[in-house]
Amino acid sequence: MKKPDLASKPVKELSADEAAAELERLARAIAGADEAYHGKDRPLMPDAEYDALVRRNALIERDFPKLKREDSPSTRVGAAPSTKFDKAPHAVSMLSLDNAFADEDVIEFEARVRRFLKLGDDASLAMTAEPKIDGLSLNLRYVDGELKVAATRGDGAVGENVTSNVLTVSDIPTRLSGVTGVLEARGEIYMSHADFAALNAGLERAGEETFANPRNAAAGSLRQIDAAVTASRPLRFFAYAWGELSAPLGDTQMQSVARLKALGFKTNPLMKRCENVAAMLDHYKSIEDQRALLGYDIDGVVYKVDRLDYQERLGFVSRSPRWAIAHKFPAEKATTTLEAIDIQVGRTGALTPVARLKPVTVGGVVVSNATLHNQDEIERKDIRVGDTVVIQRAGDVIPQIVEVLIDKRPAGAEPYKFPETCPVCGSRAVREEGEAVRRCTGGLICPAQAVERLRHFVSRNAMDIDGLGDKQIEAMFAEKIVFEPADIFTLERRQKAGKIDLYAYKTKADGTLALKDGKKQPSNQKSVDNLFSAIKARRAPALDRFINALGMRHIGETNARLFARHYGTFEAFRNAAIGAAAEGASYDDMLSIEGVGALVAGGVIEFFKEAHNRDAVVRLLDEVEPQEMKAAASTSPVAGKTVVFTGTLETMTRDEAKAQALALGAKVSGSVSAKTDYLVAGPGAGSKLKGAEALGVAVLTESAWRALIGGGG
Ligand code: IVH
Repeated sequence: MKKPDLASKPVKELSADEAAAELERLARAIAGADEAYHGKDRPLMPDAEYDALVRRNALIERDFPKLKREDSPSTRVGAAPSTKFDKAPHAVSMLSLDNAFADEDVIEFEARVRRFLKLGDDASLAMTAEPKIDGLSLNLRYVDGELKVAATRGDGAVGENVTSNVLTVSDIPTRLSGVTGVLEARGEIYMSHADFAALNAGLERAGEETFANPRNAAAGSLRQIDAAVTASRPLRFFAYAWGELSAPLGDTQMQSVARLKALGFKTNPLMKRCENVAAMLDHYKSIEDQRALLGYDIDGVVYKVDRLDYQERLGFVSRSPRWAIAHKFPAEKATTTLEAIDIQVGRTGALTPVARLKPVTVGGVVVSNATLHNQDEIERKDIRVGDTVVIQRAGDVIPQIVEVLIDKRPAGAEPYKFPETCPVCGSRAVREEGEAVRRCTGGLICPAQAVERLRHFVSRNAMDIDGLGDKQIEAMFAEKIVFEPADIFTLERRQKAGKIDLYAYKTKADGTLALKDGKKQPSNQKSVDNLFSAIKARRAPALDRFINALGMRHIGETNARLFARHYGTFEAFRNAAIGAAAEGASYDDMLSIEGVGALVAGGVIEFFKEAHNRDAVVRLLDEVEPQEMKAAASTSPVAGKTVVFTGTLETMTRDEAKAQALALGAKVSGSVSAKTDYLVAGPGAGSKLKGAEALGVAVLTESAWRALIGGGG
């Protein structure tokens, strides 16, 4: 690759070497531009070009954090990117707005302002009217024209420093020409409808949780810590206010916003100066009419007193200015028919009902789906397929059913019956007491949950497979190479047999595997082989990690450890879980574990009730061998002793007895030898009993054994 091409190569396509070269070039170019700008008062390049350099530098540093240079230009702008967002106190607090819902409220607001300022009815009192953007407010602090800190609103007094993320937002200038001292611009970060839809589609494809609305998407994207993520999410910004200023921006609201625009900020084109209340309400109607066509969410109109000297006199009441008010839009409603209720299965197995509607236009947007939340909601509202329903679209993009028009119910409409099996994998879907959601129990095999389960399986506190992170799991699932945990352990065999070709995947700068790029790259062989050794290294996992890795409901690290300690081996645990579903003794034994209650036991039992899960576990056990867990420094008299069970036990199953012995730190063996300490013999004992007697091994009845271990435990 020749040099001139490199500067325009998309960051996502850069190799590590190219990225390093680019960071070096950018550091030099930006430092040169800075020097020319400050030292000689003669900029080397237009601001937009400078912005582009700073942004590219930030993007590369996000994708290649390890390559960040000591002399990185990003360290100069604001705080260095940290793993946590630092606190950023606001020089001037960020306030909220009072709300108006009806025209009368607006008329009253205007009258109140007049009274406060002692203006007669004839005195002119102009106000601005502009869309209220449904996003997040942001304060951008520039010192001598350079963006130093970008901070969220937070509690109004202290926000979060999101400077490094804001650098990727192209609506926000990193430098302002001809500005000295402090200038704080304020406005709203938001995401357009189109970008929101594309983002969600991508997340869905990757099996990730989608955002409920553009506002949440903007918030989530702005607060991303992970490098590449923020950069790939297009955020926009409208400036509409300011904080600390060394010099005023203008005499009026209109002038000040015009100045922000001249400095390079995006300002809203629908902002208008209105001479009186009638003009304000007219503009409100006009904005409402255009609402659906704007391409971004707004939830009202903000009116502000235009003259800044008036604003100054009016001041604030508690946390809102007296000189401004937000006139909210009413939620948009429409009537349509409910054609079907579909069930979606989320990544955690939650079954969510979705209303399929006869398409209808609500405030200019065609709506064909609505959320139904959960089973109770459907029952409470008695929503039936065929019903005529009133839907409402508020700030959120997902509409809701607010009312069922019972008089219009067609004859024969049946109450909706919520499914008790998962529509994706057919496993039983259970609803725990006190829970609103019903969940699929097909954990390991349900495609709707597969990616999430696999991610958990390989994660740090579970199987902890190096080099196999979220991205790799997603890529392998998308490429249909890995569906369930066992598949991870057959990768190497399949590669050797030529059934898959992991060498054709792209290797990232940190040596991990990324998405397939189609080309075979010899350099991949090393990272793939590293992955194979990392997988091999986990073929004998600690029992508690293994139990945790299965991702049973309510079983995390802590509970997995309780089970591992109690049962000692996976065999014992599995038998107990299967047994507990059928017989009281096993169940009681499980509940006897300190820290294990009905909820946790239920999570295990439901998991093993599912044949799909049992089969997936069997396939996994063909590949891995969970280690026996020794009881932690047991004080039990049988700790460290070798025990053999034979004959029929009366108060418990053989497996239970073994598990109990293991939990107490004993070793359980299948045959009698000179090393055997105790033979526990029930009725029907045969050759083992004879052997023990011949070797002089202590023979115990079941009750003697229980007495030995302390009352039967
Ligand atoms: S002016 C002193 N103008 O609404 C108040 N706010 O409910 C300064 N917002 O926190 C705010 N669009 O996040 C103003 N055109 C607009 C706005 C706007 C959206 C948000 C802002 C504020 C919230 C108050």
